[in-house]
This record gives sequence, C-alpha cells and structure tokens, in this order.
Amino acid sequence: MQIETKRLIFRKWKLSDVDDLVDCLNDFELVKNMTMPFPYTKNDAIEFLAKRQQDDKNTYYFAVTTKSGELVGGTSLSLNKDGEFRGGIYVHRKFRGQGYGQEIFIARAKFAFDYLKLNEIRNGFFEFNEKSKNMQQKMGYKIVGKTKNYSPSLNSEVVEIITKLKKEDFDKYYKTLDFEFKLTT
Ligand SMILES: CC(C)(COP(=O)(O)OP(=O)(O)OC[C@H]1O[C@@H](n2cnc3c(N)ncnc32)[C@H](O)[C@@H]1OP(=O)(O)O)[C@@H](O)C(=O)NCCC(=O)NCCS
Repeated sequence: MQIETKRLIFRKWKLSDVDDLVDCLNDFELVKNMTMPFPYTKNDAIEFLAKRQQDDKNTYYFAVTTKSGELVGGTSLSLNKDGEFRGGIYVHRKFRGQGYGQEIFIARAKFAFDYLKLNEIRNGFFEFNEKSKNMQQKMGYKIVGKTKNYSPSLNSEVVEIITKLKKEDFDKYYKTLDFEFKLTT
C-alpha cells in the first residue's frame, strides 16, 4: 500500500531504512514528545523494522519520504487492545517547520476516514508539546481529557492530553484545502 501527497510518499518500512531511521529518531527533541528511548540505537531500529515486516491489516506503519526517496519521518495507526486505532507522527529535524508535519497529519486522517472507515481518530500530545497541540487544533481536533504516560527519554511520567478528531470536523477542514491524496493498495 502506498499513499502519495503533493510532496510526500508513504510506504512500508524496509529493513534497509535502518540507518535513516536511527538518524531521524536519535534526536532528543523528537523522542521527548514520544515513547521511544533516547539514545535511539541501531538495535532499536532493527527490532522496529523487523516487526514492521509482520504487520497485518490492523497495523499501519508508514515510512514517509520525499519524492526522491529521502526519509522525512514516520506515522502510524494500529488497533490497540481497547479496539481503537492509535499511533504517532514524527518529522526528521531537517524537515521540521516546513509544513511536512501538517501534510503527514492530514494524509493520515484521510487514510483513517476513507480507507479504515473510522468515525473519529484518537490522538494526544504531551502537555508541553505546543507544536503538536497547534497542529491538531488547526485540523479540528478537540481536547477530550488527559492521562499519564511514561516517557522513557525523560525517564518520568508525563501528562498526555487526549484529543479526538471527528470525521465531520475533518471533512469541513479538508474542504478548505487544496490537498493531493492518492492511495494505491
Ligand atoms: C510535531 C511535528 C510532527 C510537527 O511537524 P512540522 O513539520 O515541524 O510542522 P509543520 O511545519 O507542518 O507545522 C504545522 C503547524 O504546527 C504548528 N507549529 C509548527 N512549528 C511550531 C512552533 N515552533 N511552535 C508552535 N507551533 C508550531 C503550527 O500550527 C504550524 O502551522 P502554521 O503553518 O500555521 O505555522 C514535528 O515537530 C515533530 O516531529 N516533533 C517531534 C515529535 C512529535 O512531537 N510528534 C507528535 C507527538 S503528539
């Protein structure tokens, strides 16, 4: 399965992505907002990429690249034990602040609503993550609660703000955009 947007390609992770993945994730400013360890090692990446070769129809992890194949980041949606699709999104430091995060977030929502046929998506952000908060609010996500999560890189519990995006709110936002989205199965 592949998704193509104006500037990006979303594809399955390959074992050969290992060095690019380490380069992307071995970044404290990135992982402090997520649940990966820091430092992020080659072994962490090998373990992750090996799992990705076993993914099934409830587990979607995408490597996101430029059209020329450079790794921009990653995103995922996978069904958890509570029956909800959850996942994350991250952008390599070199590509941040250029609208790529927004492009990935929008494509991910479109995939969730059009392909997975979800009625709403649950997301979240650690309470200090202003960027993610702004990005989600712009798209129509609403804050619905908070919980505690453990951040391995900070070695502490952090407050996670829980957000939800309803299909109808996303559809309103999407109509205002000139967005390219092509899904090939
Ligand atoms: C969060 C993240 C994905 C955003 O990606 P990005 O490519 O840098 O973001 P974009 O350039 O698309 O910006 C999108 C929006 O984010 C917000 N934003 C971006 N930079 C910001 C900043 N420095 N401060 C506050 N908000 C900011 C704005 O709403 C921006 O919209 P704008 O066009 O009106 O400025 C990226 O910073 C990242 O990978 N962070 C580390 C991992 C992470 O936090 N993941 C999300 C966990 S919930």
